[in-house]
Amino acid sequence: MTVRNLFLLPGDGIGPEAMAEVRKIITYMNAEMAGGFTTDEGLVGGCAYDAHGAAISDADMAKAMAADAVLFGAVGGPKWDDVPYEVRPEAGLLRLRKDMELFANLRPAICYPALSDASSLKPELVEGLDILIVRELTGGVYFGEPKEIIDLGNGQKRGIDTQVYDTYEIERIAGVAFELARTRGNRVCSMEKRNVMKSGVLWNQVVTATHKAKYSDVALDHMLADAGGMQLVRAPKQFDVIVTDNLFGDMLSDVAAMLTGSLGMLPSASLGSPDAKTGKRKALYEPVHGSAPDIAGKGIANPIAMIASFAMCLRYSFNLVKEADTLEKAIANVLDKGVRTGDIMADGARQVGTVEMGDTILAEFKALSA
Ligand code: NAD
Ligand code: IPM
Ligand code: MN
Repeated sequence: MTVRNLFLLPGDGIGPEAMAEVRKIITYMNAEMAGGFTTDEGLVGGCAYDAHGAAISDADMAKAMAADAVLFGAVGGPKWDDVPYEVRPEAGLLRLRKDMELFANLRPAICYPALSDASSLKPELVEGLDILIVRELTGGVYFGEPKEIIDLGNGQKRGIDTQVYDTYEIERIAGVAFELARTRGNRVCSMEKRNVMKSGVLWNQVVTATHKAKYSDVALDHMLADAGGMQLVRAPKQFDVIVTDNLFGDMLSDVAAMLTGSLGMLPSASLGSPDAKTGKRKALYEPVHGSAPDIAGKGIANPIAMIASFAMCLRYSFNLVKEADTLEKAIANVLDKGVRTGDIMADGARQVGTVEMGDTILAEFKALSA
């Protein structure tokens, strides 16, 4: 019997609130499915710091490494604003990404039909939107050395971050983007700033060479990342797959989130390379949003990004494609019926909290699965 091991890291703020709604779906699937999932749970972020002085413990890190997939909620919050930089909540997420070598972050921005009026853009600009941002996740300025603040001794300090990319890092993320493009619109737009950054020049060269060598059937464009941000809000439907570095990908995916109506809608999958022997990839599934301290504890957070991240987990880690499609369809149907959390509320819709949104999606998932 297939055993599927999930490791849950709900984290801080709205992370645990959103994760609770996914747990209900797992419980239902376990009752219905052969094998189902085994789950274990750990601490990450501020709650881990409070418990053991680190943003993730070595024991939980080992469990994440051993699991078939990790489900991650969100980390951070004002309570931990003053903790040392090395153990701030976000360091837990960065360690997970780095140690698990999750270099490929897939951030799909899909505008559900019912939500074209929830975007800050005109409905006709976002209706039918389906773009995929492929963000490099283990390199660039997030991890480059040196990374420090030095005292210049004259009353001045210097803050240093370093953007570093090696050929292999660009090659492998470009490969992921081209492969995925072949399964959808067959177009890739690569974004960097080769006009100012040496790493941007190399990025552009390596993406171009990778395309020529292995993927010339896919249409490839290049855009400077600032212009790319502008194009994302001017005419977002021109894009199919966008491939970009760690920092530009972070910023562009928050921009893309608003095209879909809310940051509370955007899921993501963070994937490693397939294992040479088993073909399995290490994987962590995380909503794009953070811990939302302004609404945490109020029971009003939108759980859809977290639930849709679990759908990505079903698809990418367990090849449960039918179940993933059904869960995504359940989300779309519930939105069609006018059920909305506050962040995507519209005239005439019915406003619900986190729990009711989760329950309604679960009921629809059950009905569609029957
Ligand atoms: P945020 O994503 O937490 O919130 C930005 C805005 O979007 C807020 O107004 C929030 O209420 C709203 N929002 C976010 N998710 C929502 C949801 N599911 N439903 C309804 N509204 C939602 O970003 P921030 O405020 O810049 O950061 C807060 C903390 O979260 C910081 O400590 C930051 O480092 C951390 N953060 C963590 C992650 C992560 O864990 N993956 C991602 C981003 C930010
Ligand atoms: C994200 C977040 C993280 C990032 C933070 C919390 C480290 O903003 O996943 O988008 O910058 O990558
Ligand atoms: Mn971000």
